[in-house]
Amino acid sequence: MLIEIYKVYTKFTTHIANTINWRWGRFIMKVYGVSFGRDLIIQGVLDVTIGKNTNITIGDSCTFKSGRGLNPLSRNIKGSISVEDSAVLLIGNNCGFSSVCLWSHESIKIGNYVNVGADTIIMDSDAHSLSYLDRRNNQSDLNHKVNKPIIIDDNVLIGTRCIILKGVHIGARSIIGSGSVVVKDIPEDCVAAGNPARIIRKINFN
Ligand SMILES: CC(C)(COP(=O)(O)OP(=O)(O)OC[C@H]1O[C@@H](n2cnc3c(N)ncnc32)[C@H](O)[C@@H]1OP(=O)(O)O)[C@@H](O)C(=O)NCCC(=O)NCCS
Repeated sequence: MLIEIYKVYTKFTTHIANTINWRWGRFIMKVYGVSFGRDLIIQGVLDVTIGKNTNITIGDSCTFKSGRGLNPLSRNIKGSISVEDSAVLLIGNNCGFSSVCLWSHESIKIGNYVNVGADTIIMDSDAHSLSYLDRRNNQSDLNHKVNKPIIIDDNVLIGTRCIILKGVHIGARSIIGSGSVVVKDIPEDCVAAGNPARIIRKINFN
């Protein structure tokens, strides 16, 4: 009996929190000037940090789950979207993200029907200079960090806890195994996994 009451209570409070956060998330996106399509769902609290002169577009029917036990893999890991000054973040239609960290310094382009597993990091920059001398000074560290655009094509599935690093292009319909670190391009229609991610096999959809 007590367990049933607890379940109803949890469901109810989660529902209320989600409704508030969803509206709040959309409000914050609007304030930042993010262009988003129909039926954007933001469940949980998504951190959004956006610089000046950015170009951010999120298509129709995209979902961002962010912590709060919304799915077993997200647990309480907060998702975040950070787009630095003059950087680009383009997301197509029908994409789903669980507790993701999207950090664009230059350009991240994600196609349609892309699913990104919980706690994955997608970052198109080393975020620091590789020279220890540059790193001693904030401005020179910033000036010398290397950025390279990331492209993720339509229908890609990225497993939980992956890291997608700068300059990577993942081809359409490919699957990235959980816990992979993707440092090089992955062609279309294949399963790739590991650190560094390597092709395990090709997929034949016929
Ligand atoms: C990548 C994946 C789809 C492969 O599944 P599969 O086709 O059934 O592959 P298998 O389990 O037969 O493994 C094939 C080979 O790849 C290796 N492999 C599979 N997944 C791997 C991973 N995540 N990292 C490293 N190697 C992996 C296996 O060890 C095996 O190697 P071997 O041939 O040398 O023995 C699956 O392992 C996976 O990671 N799924 C992602 C689940 C997920 O995170 N979903 C998102 C939830 S939101």
